[in-house]
Amino acid sequence: MKMPVPAVGCESEEELQARVVRGPLPRHVAIIMDGNGRWAAQRNLPRVAGHHEGIKSVREVVTCCRELGLAGLTIYAFSAENWRRPMFEIQELMMLLELYLKRELSTLMERGIRFRTIGRIERLPASVVEWIRRVERETASHQGMTLTLALSYSGRSEIVDAVRRVVSDVQAGSLAPSAIDEDLLEQYLDTHGMEDPDLVIRTSGECRISNFLLWQMAYAELYFTKTLWPDFRRRDLLAAFLDFQQRERRFGRTGEQLQGRAG
Ligand code: FPP
Repeated sequence: MKMPVPAVGCESEEELQARVVRGPLPRHVAIIMDGNGRWAAQRNLPRVAGHHEGIKSVREVVTCCRELGLAGLTIYAFSAENWRRPMFEIQELMMLLELYLKRELSTLMERGIRFRTIGRIERLPASVVEWIRRVERETASHQGMTLTLALSYSGRSEIVDAVRRVVSDVQAGSLAPSAIDEDLLEQYLDTHGMEDPDLVIRTSGECRISNFLLWQMAYAELYFTKTLWPDFRRRDLLAAFLDFQQRERRFGRTGEQLQGRAG
């Protein structure tokens, strides 16, 4: 039986990190950033102020995941449903995204981070798409960690698009229907070649997955925290990792089977 690990107390970030690195870390973490608007409202600021502050959390989380040697970090930055937001807010988010790409390219180069995107990128403004392609191109050979931004992304649309491509290949005669299985469908998803997330974090207290990585999170551990995204920093990420280390990932097996395997 696993011994309960004491909750995160008033220990320093260094002590917390030292505890975290003693246990198994997730290889791929996916994050639903939420609560930027509420963070701003609590301070009588416009919603976009929350997005500006949220960028600082993105930087801190990327840095921490890279330092801890994770293979992947995927961030839900703009959902397909977010196109329903007021035009002003969408424009501000696009501007922030472009700024982020311009500013962070040198950091991604220095730290060996590969950048990629998932979602219907072609819907984004042309200048943002140009920057995305440039950063993807320039970091394509990096092996350190893959940072994926989900932009104009919908898990259901991703699956629909994949099915369309499968059908098109079947009709063209290059794919036999009998060859269609889970591994094959995966190759048609935006995330092809990427490991499934082990841990999915959502901030702001909402306990739903909002059309994010529907296929890929089949076996992910889910972690919900009340912390609003702009307040979510290294310490909060480390607390999520500690919580992850308490989970018993059985993948359909029994606890006894796992103990037998371990012993
Ligand atoms: C959710 O909070 C946040 C978003 C939909 C956008 C997040 C975007 C950024 C932090 C900036 C751009 C991102 C990158 C990676 C450069 P919300 O607005 O839904 O908050 P609320 O639920 O409190 O209203």
